[in-house]
Amino acid sequence: MKVAILGYGTVGSAVVKALIENEKIIKARCGQNIIPVIALARSVKKNSLIPVTQNADEILNRKDIDVFVELMGGVKEPFAIIKQLLKKKKNVVTANKAMLAYHRYELEKLASNLAFGYEASVAGAIPIIKVLKEGLSANHILNIKGILNGTSNYILTHMSQKGSDFKEVLKRAQELGYAEADPSFDIEGFDAAHKLLILASIAYGIRAVPEDILIEGISGISNEDVYFANEFGFTIKLLGVAKAQDSKVELRVHPTMLSKNEMIAKVDGVMNAVSIRGDMLGESLYYGAGAGGLATASAVISDLLDIARGQLKTPMFGFKSDMKYSLLPIEDIYTKYYLRLKVEDKIGVLSKITQMMSENSISIDSFLQKPKADETYSTLFFTTHHTFEKSIKNLIHTLKKQKFIKTSPFMMRIE
Ligand code: NAP
Ligand code: HSE
Repeated sequence: MKVAILGYGTVGSAVVKALIENEKIIKARCGQNIIPVIALARSVKKNSLIPVTQNADEILNRKDIDVFVELMGGVKEPFAIIKQLLKKKKNVVTANKAMLAYHRYELEKLASNLAFGYEASVAGAIPIIKVLKEGLSANHILNIKGILNGTSNYILTHMSQKGSDFKEVLKRAQELGYAEADPSFDIEGFDAAHKLLILASIAYGIRAVPEDILIEGISGISNEDVYFANEFGFTIKLLGVAKAQDSKVELRVHPTMLSKNEMIAKVDGVMNAVSIRGDMLGESLYYGAGAGGLATASAVISDLLDIARGQLKTPMFGFKSDMKYSLLPIEDIYTKYYLRLKVEDKIGVLSKITQMMSENSISIDSFLQKPKADETYSTLFFTTHHTFEKSIKNLIHTLKKQKFIKTSPFMMRIE
């Protein structure tokens, strides 16, 4: 089976290397050689293991290629290329979750009975697409909770365990090949949201795009939040959450305070983990490297092996007819919250804040006022009992207008 690699960067070059180095085991498992014959890049590559061209047409017009593997990144350009390939009845494998977050249903329609592999698009090396689409296909999926972005988990782990500086750890994650070409996708939660949307398609048939769901990243987290979390037995993780109730599904990505005792709270560094609760199997947990060339190549090549064996299952998201799930409006999300407020240190401030909470039907679960050093303000930390997203947003809106508030209130959800 001849393969063209569209994109010879971190993942593309790792796929080529692994196909060459693991040639024997791959052939033994699928009965044929999987040969990377040519790759595409923007720049000239010295010492590449296979020929690399900068001319896309030179690759796309080749008739001898059995599978095209898209590892370029971006949305518009790879989408145009893949559409063109599917129209020519070519098989495709991609790791591009950003493109799938927007165009997955158009691609599913075009792919029809062709093989379209996207195992590497979610949670790196963890074979989570196969788990959800095949292994758990008899279940109603009650909820999914995932650490779906390796870069942000790597940053949060280093901040929490070593007190490291945010920017320095991000730079290291980029050097290690974990981060997206634009790292704001990692730290602002978009990459995790792209992955959550792909999982939600398999679990619920939800057709949402990123703009439809709640997405918050980790850039607002301060060392004070890490301090509070440590003091109160929490760990902060960027979590993707999908929860079904009746015919509604809530989808959200945000930094989350998790009890240190939860298994997923112990997932550190670049590792990802996905917890899936089904009505038949109960809770299950999947763990593995979430980013990096070789780990991602492992998932890409598993799709190639499935294609070689004629085993890549269609339809793409595992549904032959539509399900009746729809998206829960963001304001109806119901959970617990953490608030950090910097306020003027004067009589009556605390009582005004608690009054505003009560007017928004928000009940306080815990409260801490950090002893001051030399600051002219006080930092207050609250956690709440369950309340609606619209109530906490109203409270923050009101707080922002108060003179005694020194910086914008910071809020995090607790799971
Ligand atoms: P990367 O290192 O930036 O590599 C991208 C490759 O594509 C480069 O070789 C680049 O050429 C080439 N390219 C980009 N745009 C092109 C264009 N318009 N025409 C021709 N070549 C083009 O990215 P990556 O980390 O390998 O990621 C690739 C894909 O895998 C992305 O969709 C990413 O989200 C996904 N992914 C990555 C990881 C990871 O851990 N890195 C994990 C899972 C999924 P130049 O080399 O000349 O710049
Ligand atoms: N940038 C992504 C991450 C790559 O850090 O998780 C894997 O999808």
